[in-house]
This record gives sequence, C-alpha cells and structure tokens, in this order.
Amino acid sequence: MKNETKNPAIDRIDGRMKVTGGAKYFADFDLPDLAYCVIVGSEIARGTLTNIDTKKALSAPGVLGVFTHLNMPPIPGWDAPAGGQADGPPPKPATEETYRILSGPKILFDGQPIALVVANTYERATYAASLVNAKYSKQTARTSLEKHIDKQVTPKGGDYSRGKAYAYQSAPVKLEADYKIPIEVHNPMELHGITAHWTGDKQLMIYAKTQGVNATQQAMAQAFKIDPKNIRVHTEFMGGGFGMGLRTWPQETAVVAIAKKIGRPVKLVINRSQMFTMVGHRPYTVQTIQMGADNHGRLVAINHAATAETASYEDFTEATVNMTRFMYECPNVSTRYRLVRLDRSVPIWMRGPGEATGAFALESAMDEMAHKLSMDPIEFRLRNYTETDPEHNLPYSSKHLKEAYERGADAIGWKDRKNEPGSLKEDNWLVGYGMSTGVFNAFRWEASARAILHADGSLVIQSAVTDIGPGTGTALTMIAHNVLGVPFDRIKVEYGDTSHPKAPSQGGSAIVSAVGSAVFDACTKIKNELFELAVKANGPLAGAQTADLVLTEGAISIEKGLDKKVAVGKLMESSQLSKIEKDADLKGSPDLQKYSMYSFSVHFVKVKVNSLTGAVRVTKAVSVADSGRIISPKTAASQMIGGVTGGIGMALTEEAVIDHRFGRFINNNLADYHVAVHADVPAIETIFIDKPDPVINPMGAKGMGEIALIGFAGAVANAVFNATGQRIRELPITPDKVMQREV
Ligand code: MOS
Repeated sequence: MKNETKNPAIDRIDGRMKVTGGAKYFADFDLPDLAYCVIVGSEIARGTLTNIDTKKALSAPGVLGVFTHLNMPPIPGWDAPAGGQADGPPPKPATEETYRILSGPKILFDGQPIALVVANTYERATYAASLVNAKYSKQTARTSLEKHIDKQVTPKGGDYSRGKAYAYQSAPVKLEADYKIPIEVHNPMELHGITAHWTGDKQLMIYAKTQGVNATQQAMAQAFKIDPKNIRVHTEFMGGGFGMGLRTWPQETAVVAIAKKIGRPVKLVINRSQMFTMVGHRPYTVQTIQMGADNHGRLVAINHAATAETASYEDFTEATVNMTRFMYECPNVSTRYRLVRLDRSVPIWMRGPGEATGAFALESAMDEMAHKLSMDPIEFRLRNYTETDPEHNLPYSSKHLKEAYERGADAIGWKDRKNEPGSLKEDNWLVGYGMSTGVFNAFRWEASARAILHADGSLVIQSAVTDIGPGTGTALTMIAHNVLGVPFDRIKVEYGDTSHPKAPSQGGSAIVSAVGSAVFDACTKIKNELFELAVKANGPLAGAQTADLVLTEGAISIEKGLDKKVAVGKLMESSQLSKIEKDADLKGSPDLQKYSMYSFSVHFVKVKVNSLTGAVRVTKAVSVADSGRIISPKTAASQMIGGVTGGIGMALTEEAVIDHRFGRFINNNLADYHVAVHADVPAIETIFIDKPDPVINPMGAKGMGEIALIGFAGAVANAVFNATGQRIRELPITPDKVMQREV
C-alpha cells in the first residue's frame, strides 16, 4: 500500500451512470404483476380508532386489498413481549407502549398507519386510500418536550463524571447557558420504501431503501421466521440516506407480509409528508452547559446535560453529550442524558447524529467562554488541548487537530477577524467569523469482501455494502488499485446486494475503514499468491524471495532489478489459471483497548448579517478534516461539501414545526422545510490533513462522513455572534431570532 503517498483524485466510478439514468434505485425495479401500496395515516396523534370503513376503498378500480388492524396478515416473528422495538425483536427495556403496525386500534403518533391500500397502479392505490374513512376517540397529544420535561426518564448508559461534582460553582469565570435543537428531518431527494417479491413460499427478494442490506435481510428473517439465506436484499444505489435507512421500519415488514398474502410483488414508496413521520428524524433536544475556567483560560469544569424527545413506545438514544467528556483537557466533567417519551414517532440517527447536536452546545459554549475571557476562540481551544483522551486515559491513535486549526484559520482569513463583536461592516451587512471543532469515533467494524483477478488483467471486487452516496465504490477501487496495481478502468466493484460477502450497514463513518480493510486483505492474498507463482514458475523470477517482489503496472518484478519482469496475465496463463479469487472476513479493530480512535474536524465560516432584516448569509466556509489517509480525494471533498451544505441547513433554516394543539407537523413538505440549496451555499474549501493513522487499518484511513457536519452549526452561531454580538442558542438562526434583539 502506498501509505507514504497521497492518492490521486479520480472521478466517482458510478458518477456517469448516476447522472445518465443508468443507476437503478430501489423504486426503479419493475416486476411482472407489481402491485402498489399506499399508506393511510392517522389524523390524530393520540387516542383510539373507533371505526374504520374500507368498503368504498375496496370497491374502487384496481384495488387488490385494504389492510387494517382488523385483517392484517400476521407477522410470525413479532410475537415478542410488550415493549419491543417497532420493527420487532429483540425487545428493548419496557417503555409505556408497544407499537406494532396495524396490530390494534391504539394511536401513538400522528401519521401512524391505520390502513395499507394495495392496487394495480400507484394512482389507483392513492385514490382508494382517499376513500378510507376513520373515526377516532381522541386524547390530548403530548408532543411538547418542555411541557412534559418533568416526566423525563434515564435511559441505559447512565451519567458520567470525573473530578469534583461542584467544581463549576467555585470557578473564577463561569458560564451557564441553554441550547436548543429543533426536530430535523433527513429529507433526502429519494423517497423511502421497499419492494417485496416472494419468489417461493420461503423465498424472498427485496429491493429497499436501506443503508444495510444484511441488516434488512436479518430483520426480515426474524419477522418471517425464515432462513436469511433465502432472503436476498438489493440496494445498490441510494438517493441520500443520512441515517433514515439504518433500521427496517415497520411499514417495510408490513409490505412483505401483504405481498405474501396477495401473492404478488408489492411496492411501497412513501410520500414527502410521510417522510416526516415514518422513517425517523433528529430528535428535539434541549441542553444545558455549565462551564468554568480560570483567569488564564484553563477549563476548570464542564457539566453538560441533554434532554431529548423519544416515542412513547421506544427509547431512542444517541451520543449527544459524549464529546464533552474527552474533547478538552478539563479535570472536572459531568454529563447527563435524559429522554421524554412523547406521542411522536420514534427518532433515529441523522447526519452526524447526537454528536452534531452536542457539538452545537459545547462549541457554542467554548466560544462564549472565550469571549468572557477576551481570548481568541482558537487560542482558548489550544490552551485546553489534549494529546491523550481524558475520558479513557488512552493515547489517540492519531490527532492532528492543531494543524487543522492552523490551516483552516489561514484559509478563512482568521487574521481579519476582530475579537470584539460588531467590528466589521460592509454596507448594511455586519461581518463575522466563527469556528468550531468536530469529532466522531473512528470505528472499524467486522466486514468481508471478495476479490477476483482475471487472467485478462481485470479485477472484480464484491461486497454487500451499499453506497449511500459518499463514494464507497470509488474508495474501494482505489484501495484495490493500490494493492494490485490494476488500472482504475479495469476494476469493477459489485456491491449493495446480499449475494455478495457480508458487510456492515453504511453508517457511522466506518465503511472505508471496515470494508476497505477487507478489500485490502483480499487483494493482498491475491498478490501473495501471484508472488508464490512467480518464484515457482520457470522464468526471470524463478527462485527469487517473495519478500523482494513488487507488483507494478500489471507486472511482478524484483524491487531492486525492475528489468526482470513477469506480466501477471502471462503468469496466470502459464500457471493455467483463468482467475484467482480470494475472500477476506475480518474482525473489527483489535487495538481499541490501547488507543482512542477519533476523526477530527474544524469548521470555519465567514457570515454576513443584514442589519435591517436579520438575514444571515454564509459567504465562505472552510472545513478541515483530520481523518487519516484520504483514500479518494475527490469523493471525500464532495462528502465534506455535502456536510457543510447540511450544516448550513441545520444552522439557518431546517426545523420541523409541530402544532402542539394537534400534535402534527405544519411544514411537512420541501417548500416549508427548507433544506439548503445552491443559493444558500457559498464556495466551500475543503482541506485534508491526509496523514495516515498508524493503528486503525492498513490504509491509515479514519472515517469522515460525520465530521463533515459535526460542529458546523456552532461555527455559524459563533460567526453570527462575532458579527452582531447576538448569541443565538436556538437553531435554526432565523431572521426573527436575530431581530428579536437589536442588531
Ligand atoms: Mo449516518 S447518521 O451514520 O447514516
């Protein structure tokens, strides 16, 4: 592996296919006799269905079935005890309610499916769905976290503390502040759904929007009590996941059951408003930070408490407060995490998940404290920099965060920033600079892969992993190329299907590390076999030591005598091999006991705030990543740009608003829930430290998906403060909040 050298920036291997319509997404698969399913959702958020009339719907043209709790086919694996997860076993600790789709008349959240209508066209199913008539006995919905905060529960995982519990109280400089994150919804372009096709009594083919085909396979095997070997799941391409595809949702399982019942393949594609209630969201979270420092800018204490909403029927938890435990050198730290169960559909991880929520609070507080100390925010972070992980007392496997601060500061023009807020002005715009740190675990999970080298010099890589958009296939191509020297255009990556070697779900920034390691291993096995063949065959390398051999540009040679060459194709031919095929099946990282492994990022932004309207514009963004060796520089940069784009939405516009009188969203569409688009996004500069991590895997690559977003919203809030002197602690930073106080 060329660990010393940077990788070339190659184009996305499937880019052309995607933009020319050649890439098939789950809903693109057409099947003979395909039926279409449409969900009828509850119009109340809490209560009981007293009557559901499906007669009219049933007699509408083309209708093949209308399924409610009264006639839903059973899902055999869902006979779990009460308090189970929404998608079936394994059961979680008992919550107040159990949610099983179409299993009873009880309504636990707005939009909860009350009927699934199946017809021979999508239009007919949609029309028939409009004819279903429901009556409810309604109860007051509990959807406001603030209103029910007294009923908070402590989830598994518990509180954390080190040092003295009340050190904060006696710190020379103190800050206490509350931060709020609204409900955010993933809102990828592609709608969620599934197509289920029973090809035999116990044989199932699935096309779905899942971030893990093996996870979906497992969930369906449990639900239908069949051998996972008899279930094939295919998800080669995904039009954005952002976390929503990290579990199998109840309506997916229901569609599989219905497909069996009616004896035809069934497709479900939910609509945009259902994307707000059927497939998770970033939970509404309130946080309090207490931070104490001494007069020299050394942190004395940080207490970080977060309370997040969850469903009445399931405790969803995430790592909102964890970053505070290890990010800075600080002797006294405590974190606390609580949940409030509401009449809402269950949240799920979303873009950088809880860490992004927590980083907004912590990194805003760091900026507030630096201001109290009249200190430059980068200088304040450097005073509290740590070379070892203070939570686990372990060295970092690699950490180049100082260099990231320096390079980012240079690129944004930090020297032009004034520490005094409100100092810079251009016409009617106040100008400010802000920065923030991001961090996320560098995971490496179990994964497997297959490599097949053909005698014609072409290479096929196979793994079940799904590419949700970051460029996984391109990265795997680079890794294989670096080991075997096969030209990029002779490498084919086949992925996103359970017929390939098992892989973890695409998420947690772990895929290049996990699946990439398996590809590296499989290709290395092929290389070793070629070397064995070369020294055994009659030819210029006969009798050479395999340890002295190198493989470059399709030929094997002795490192010090490159003239003695054997072409790989010739070697395979003379050995009568049409192909060499190797599998790798790797465990996760072996060194987690000895090192703390994290990827780091620093986000810098320049903003303009209109002093007449309160409008905030990000005019420049620089994101720097310390994520080890960058495998695929071009797709990695695109991923960082995607993170910044998501971060601008999170900072300035994204908020799903509930009318608590009804417990319903009032902006569940893409016009009123504004995801950042081109007009919101300035030129973004991405910088990679690009130094290999010596521990995590042979490529030296740490993950980078989550750190592209984590911290970004804080950088914007800090820049808005620097521009205006207004500290906005509640996202999104909309003009009304800026104008509430004088600019
Ligand atoms: Mo991600 S939130 O790990 O899809």
